[in-house]
Amino acid sequence: MCGIVGAVAQRKISGILIEGLRRLEYRGYDSAGLAVISPDNSLHCIRTVGKVQVLDDAEELSPASGTVGIAHTRWATHGKPEERNSHPQLSGKNIAIVHNGIIENFQELKDEQLAKGYVFTSDTDTEVIAHLIHEQWQADGKDFFSTVRKVIARLEGAYGLAVINTDTPDRIVVARSGSPIVIGVGIGENFIASDPSALGQVTDRFIYLEEGDVAEVSRDSIRIYNGKEKVSRKPVRLHLDNDEVLKGNYRHYMQKEIFEQPEVIRNTLSGRISKSHVLEKSFGIKAQEILDKVKHVQIVACGTSNHAGLVARYWIEGVAGLPCTVEIASEYRYRKVLVPENCLFITISQSGETADTLAALRYAKELGYCGYMTVCNVANSSLVRESDFSIMTFAGREIGVASTKAFTTQLAVFAVLSIALAKRNGLSAEDEKKYVDDLNQLPLIIEQTLALDDAIRELSHDFGEKHHALFLGRGAQYPVAKEGALKLKEISYIHAEAYPAGELKHGPLALVDADMPVIAVAPNDELLEKLKSNLQEVSARGGQLYVFADTQAGFQNNAGLKVINVPHSSEFLDPVVYTIPLQLLSYHVAVLRGTDVDRPRNLAKSLTVE
Ligand code: F6R
Repeated sequence: MCGIVGAVAQRKISGILIEGLRRLEYRGYDSAGLAVISPDNSLHCIRTVGKVQVLDDAEELSPASGTVGIAHTRWATHGKPEERNSHPQLSGKNIAIVHNGIIENFQELKDEQLAKGYVFTSDTDTEVIAHLIHEQWQADGKDFFSTVRKVIARLEGAYGLAVINTDTPDRIVVARSGSPIVIGVGIGENFIASDPSALGQVTDRFIYLEEGDVAEVSRDSIRIYNGKEKVSRKPVRLHLDNDEVLKGNYRHYMQKEIFEQPEVIRNTLSGRISKSHVLEKSFGIKAQEILDKVKHVQIVACGTSNHAGLVARYWIEGVAGLPCTVEIASEYRYRKVLVPENCLFITISQSGETADTLAALRYAKELGYCGYMTVCNVANSSLVRESDFSIMTFAGREIGVASTKAFTTQLAVFAVLSIALAKRNGLSAEDEKKYVDDLNQLPLIIEQTLALDDAIRELSHDFGEKHHALFLGRGAQYPVAKEGALKLKEISYIHAEAYPAGELKHGPLALVDADMPVIAVAPNDELLEKLKSNLQEVSARGGQLYVFADTQAGFQNNAGLKVINVPHSSEFLDPVVYTIPLQLLSYHVAVLRGTDVDRPRNLAKSLTVE
């Protein structure tokens, strides 16, 4: 989603703003802009279409020399990516605002402002906030903080915003409702951003605004209100490892993140399993109390995280013996839901800020579950803070928009969780050791699987000119096939669909011809023979098959079938292992097609709007 940065300092801040935007660029990159209050108290505003580099170049030609300002990188919601729709949006000569989120009642407010004579120069919902603030300030003219608070009370929807006023040139006012805002605390200077990672170069102390908070930030003071009440929020120290965001020898972040998987899975398992059993204490006391009660599990997530939930269902039902349902958050949140007794509600999210998932959690709390857990990669994120307990995925920061290491670390967490739940359902110590042995082997097997990289790069040439692809899997490999199809479509723009292989004959088989590559995941599991019969149906229709298969699965290369042997793993953890070659395939196909691998068109990393 869009990114916000701001600074109130004694030094020139345009470099800080632009560096902050660069760090947030993975969230939105259609256009970018900044507004800085110049020493003569005028607004210096630059807006450009395209990447942050374009803004940087423009600022070099027209340097902003002020010490207070705000900036934005945009992922378009209202209005095309054009200069006039970029942020900051302005009103009069004094007000500039940047905004993440969507104002749902903007049309009504816009009509009102139009009737009062305000002229709109953009198609954004944000401009209406700028005019409302301008109008209110004309009426009040005393305390800018209270002006903004009055206006915010009229907004419906989700927003994180930051606003400056040349009449009060020493402060920024920020507000959070449904879209995150943090304050970076400095010495004699303060900063604001939608994500602390934007400010790693200037501070390591952060105040996370809570829902409904509005704050006034100046160089040496921070005032926060929630509604009418003055509140105090403690700063937390975050060690944002800047090296982590460097690409090193890799061509893309996504590639780096794929190759980090052995290490981050090891980190995620470390301290949570021993040589023979699950170390439950690592989940915390609260977790254990809740897990003891659980008789049913409801998982809710979006996109790739939802696919992790779909794999987890096979483990929670198959290993732990508990009924488990999985749903897409944007559907769950608007549905009449019947909650089974002693049901644990689990959200999964890389970012911890996905608006639909967060709304689903809040709705679930109204319905009443026996506990709320999240599997998340970002400490202090909204989902973590609003859940009873969380099991973190230690994936490190994921920059590539297409999720890779976050997914496999989510799976690692669910593998551990399902063993912990299975123990409560009578899993023997001997069987627990077998599962834990498999988990301890996992990082090594992933390393071996990554060695397929060259072979998969070679294979990717077959896909360079294709327009469609089908992915097939059975059992727990079906969600893996779904994840493979999602990766291919999001970064290479090839239309791809996934089916449980047994479903092929019920419709999709009609699509199969020599131009339709069919990719199958075929571990040596109990459904292998069934899968082989399904693949015969494809061969018989002249389809070209690419089978990622266990060395012991008995596939042979022939004219219509290319086999890529995947290292042997356990049936339990095959879904994690078979994800890797599909990630590599989509990566190499995208590189071949010359797409923007780390920042695919139309997508954003963290979807803080509905
Ligand atoms: C796909 C991808 C998305 C996210 C989805 C949920 O590669 O990354 O599908 O998985 O937007 O995001 P989180 O996990 O942050 O809740």
